[in-house]
Amino acid sequence: MNKWILSILALTMIFLASCKDDDGGGGTIDDDMLSADDLTDITYDPQTYELVVPCDFPEMEIPSDNPMTVDGVELGRFLFYDPILSADSTMSCSSCHLPSGSFTDNEAVSIGIDGVAGTRSSMSLLNVGYFYTGLFWDGRVTTLEEQALLPVEDEIELHTTWPEVEVKLKRSEIYPTMFRKAFGIESKEEITKFLAAKAIAQFERSLVSSGQSKFDQARCEPGVFLDPLELEGFELFTFEENEHPGCTHCHKTIAQLFTDNRFVNNGITDVGGTAVENLENFPDKGLGAVTGNIFDNGKFRTPSLRNIANSAPYMHDGSLNTLEEVIDHYSSGGFSAANSDANVMPFPLTDQEKAALLAFLRTLDDDAFMNNPAHQNPFD
Ligand code: HEC
Ligand code: HEC
Repeated sequence: MNKWILSILALTMIFLASCKDDDGGGGTIDDDMLSADDLTDITYDPQTYELVVPCDFPEMEIPSDNPMTVDGVELGRFLFYDPILSADSTMSCSSCHLPSGSFTDNEAVSIGIDGVAGTRSSMSLLNVGYFYTGLFWDGRVTTLEEQALLPVEDEIELHTTWPEVEVKLKRSEIYPTMFRKAFGIESKEEITKFLAAKAIAQFERSLVSSGQSKFDQARCEPGVFLDPLELEGFELFTFEENEHPGCTHCHKTIAQLFTDNRFVNNGITDVGGTAVENLENFPDKGLGAVTGNIFDNGKFRTPSLRNIANSAPYMHDGSLNTLEEVIDHYSSGGFSAANSDANVMPFPLTDQEKAALLAFLRTLDDDAFMNNPAHQNPFD
């Protein structure tokens, strides 16, 4: 509704109310009715949110219809941590994406509000604004805005409906003002799931590396160096000749994100051999369930390895508990299938080399990211 019509309406109501009082009828007018759903008295003055990223990081592609603003990110943070988004007000996004777990829940598979277990491990949201080739382990969703709509109605996750959440948001004491400040809406009625999803996406894009990891400090700050064991690990990690760890084939260091965002089969699941029919045996078809192509069965997106020590257990099914197990997996070459990636093959590793690889992975630890006050629960 146009704000002029609203003010005329409000004036008429005041007039009527005062007439009534004059009559001595004692009727009082409800404040809520007067203010109706009008939010235009609240200042809307959006300030651009400046992303601060480590040196040589790529520029994040941000959709033109959802620029990041200080108030948008703040609203997204509230929504992300607010159990108002679940049917029985017991869970929020943060139940499965906790700052202390690099925005995972540190469970093999996530458990939703009804105590029902999903089939996949929660994913870290660190640098999630850079994962453009499709979100989730199987890439089935394109944008963070689309993704943010899904957990609310997911039967295993928050298990409610958006119309119910929208009603709760409109009735809330805090949200109408916050939506006004973030998106300039003029009335509570304009609060929609799409704006909520935009705000959550803005908050998620703010979850970037702090630049305080040892790896970043050694790259970006003069006088900070990796120690000899870490350096040996870095060389193994990036060594792409035969009989090699060659982690950088997929966990690319070039763009600093430690992923190429491709979908590959890295040999986690035993499908019983390399015959093409065996590809049907993947219990979780991954990308194949999205594309319908049997050669995509068992392919999952290469995850980033930043802050990886804090998001155990590992892989889409949470089947590996520690980084030591992960290193042993790659050294063994994993399980072969008709679509195994050629760059996952057995290579020998001494105990010293394992320790070196692990030491290098630990240079990606980013405690400052997890402890950043801007990322924490605003209700605590
Ligand atoms: C019950 C646990 C649970 C809840 C609640 C939950 N998530 Fe997740 N999240 C997961 C799991 C598990 C995955 C991986 C799912 C898959 O690949 O199918 C995931 C994946 C994601 C991803 C994809 C990350 C990437 O790199 O592709 C994003 C983004 C995300 N969640 C955001 C959210 C937001 C926002 C909310 C709240 C609206 C939320 N999640 C609520 C468990 C949860
Ligand atoms: C051929 C590409 C490829 C190569 C080479 C590769 N990875 Fe991976 N990596 C992946 C994929 C794909 C996944 C996810 C697989 C899944 O969940 O089923 C993954 C997962 C991981 C994970 C778990 C991440 C998480 O969030 O759960 C770690 C840790 C890891 N890789 C470390 C390494 C190390 C160390 C090396 C080198 C020894 C390496 N990777 C080599 C593609 C690769």
